[in-house]
Amino acid sequence: MGWKNSANQFGWVTRLLHWLVAAHILGLIWLGWYMVDLSYYDPNYHGSLEYHKAFGVLALFLGGLKVVWYLLNRQPAPPAPLPPWQLWAAGAVHYLLLALMVVIPASGYLISTSAGDGINLFDLFELPALFTISDDARDLSTLIHEWLAYGTLGLVALHVAAALKHQFVDRDSTLKRMLW
Ligand code: HEM
Ligand code: HEM
Repeated sequence: MGWKNSANQFGWVTRLLHWLVAAHILGLIWLGWYMVDLSYYDPNYHGSLEYHKAFGVLALFLGGLKVVWYLLNRQPAPPAPLPPWQLWAAGAVHYLLLALMVVIPASGYLISTSAGDGINLFDLFELPALFTISDDARDLSTLIHEWLAYGTLGLVALHVAAALKHQFVDRDSTLKRMLW
């Protein structure tokens, strides 16, 4: 397997980034959902928020890399001919997921740095606050962060249902060629 995509295969960089980003996003949606229900005094509150922010920044880095890699590579042709509406729907879902993997963590960064505080990345490095924003802008970022994060679950459900249909109904190699 080559490192770049070919006319009919995903390269290993695309596959690696796909699963790394997928695991980060799904893990962070779960962690976000879990942590916002904790009370401020819960012993897990600060730790889980710190982890959410640090892994979220990693997700932003990996998501940015994935978008650039996607744009630099050709997209392999589908393993079997597809009706035009399916090609269009798959492309639209992929573009939306690519946009979300940047916009969700970017809105999280704005919530956290709104008051000028940096983000501690695993005690190794402090990511500085690049902008300070008003309370209204922070509330808007929080709303965007929440809606888009949970909305992603709907899109991912469609995306996974399509992968399973290819695997078990059409019995083609769509899922296999994204695995190893
Ligand atoms: C792909 C990456 C990310 C995903 C999927 C994600 C997902 C979520 C989810 C589901 C929530 C809970 C929302 C709620 O129920 O109220 C949340 C909350 C939060 N996230 Fe993220 N997040 C990501 C990245 C980040 C980053 C990079 C930061 C900051 C550096 C961040 C900061 C926060 C904060 C501060 C909250 C609490 C917001 C509140 O007060 O309600 N997130 N996130
Ligand atoms: C967890 C279960 C998942 C499965 C089984 C899965 C499966 C697949 C498969 C089979 C493809 C290839 C489609 C084709 O040949 O056109 C694909 C592509 C893609 N998936 Fe997923 N996926 C999952 C989760 C995710 C998540 C969580 C995201 C992002 C939030 C995501 C984003 C993408 C994108 C952007 C593509 C386009 C091709 C590329 O990566 O360059 N996937 N996925």
